Amino acid sequence: MSELDLPEVLAIDRAGLIDGLASSVETFDQARAGAEALDIPFSPDVVKDVLICGMGGSAIAGDLVTTLYYERLRHPVQVHRGYYLPGWAGPDTLHLLLSYSGETEETLTAAMQALERESPALGVTSGGKIESWYGEHGVPVLKIPGGLQPRMALLHMLVPTVVFLSRLGIIPEQTADLDAARDAIGAAIDAYGPDRPTEANTAKQLALRLADGVPLIYGSEVTAGIANRWKCQFNENAKQPSFHAILPELNHNEIVGFEQAGAFGEQARVVILKDPRQHRQIERRIALTRDIIKPGVADIITLEGEGDTPLARLMDLVILGDYVSLYTACLRRVDPEPVDSIGTLKKGLATTGNQRLQAGESGSI
Ligand code: PA5
Repeated sequence: MSELDLPEVLAIDRAGLIDGLASSVETFDQARAGAEALDIPFSPDVVKDVLICGMGGSAIAGDLVTTLYYERLRHPVQVHRGYYLPGWAGPDTLHLLLSYSGETEETLTAAMQALERESPALGVTSGGKIESWYGEHGVPVLKIPGGLQPRMALLHMLVPTVVFLSRLGIIPEQTADLDAARDAIGAAIDAYGPDRPTEANTAKQLALRLADGVPLIYGSEVTAGIANRWKCQFNENAKQPSFHAILPELNHNEIVGFEQAGAFGEQARVVILKDPRQHRQIERRIALTRDIIKPGVADIITLEGEGDTPLARLMDLVILGDYVSLYTACLRRVDPEPVDSIGTLKKGLATTGNQRLQAGESGSI
């Protein structure tokens, strides 16, 4: 019997993040209903381009959506991480502010600038200053449940992002795709959840292959955002170094590094996320990349999501990655929930930092 089939091994997940994934279909329904009901007080005609502003576990929803819909976007959409907005963002730029806590200073700084530039805006948050500032300025805010780790509130960010962009005509109408995605989430929980034993559970099998090494997650086009999500989940849940890179770009640099990978190569576990929607050359690149890097890495795994639509396959791979990283935490005997280093950094910034944000002021930064 595998360790991951023993309740005492999974018990290190004290906050119950693994069990929490079981309610993802209900979370999806709640997030979808909230986003569909939110009153958007401006016309879609106003919006010429979109900035999705956020950091970390909140911003990843923007990556997932922009990479998934990239070739179907009807207007430019960019994910903004950081302080200064790009110079081109103006009164016809929709700012979608994603911050689980509503207190992240980079996102708050972006929010202040969006108000100054009189841009249309929408917020998604569990509270904090995003809710209060934006409430004061009449910006619609979708309030989502509190008390979660931001990275475990992904569906509360991702589903509204899809719904809002669909309602505003930035991406094609999504009703059928959302229905299929909901089914994919249910199937993924059944396939990868803790009750399914290791011999029939891809997530547990992957965790056993990845727990001792450094997962290097490679994506491309529709899977590019998923690769970043997996990397971040290994970092935060399993407290494990992990990195991601994107094809075809990595064919122009990263593959050379494995020619002399040395001791790092013994740690490197490459996971390649693919999708049938990818350009046909990507399939050839994946095959060639595998052959070229094989002597320099310890393991190479290629995965494809289950489902009939890109959004359904994305959901399958995202839920798979969540389970893999949580099982990996259990194998590494670490509680997946705390992220002490992030908390320490944010506390340090609060004591040394941005007084205007702490005072909740808006106005020029
Ligand atoms: O996973 C995390 O806790 C972080 O990556 C946060 O999401 C990030 O610091 C941003 O915080 P928030 O999502 O509250 O805006």
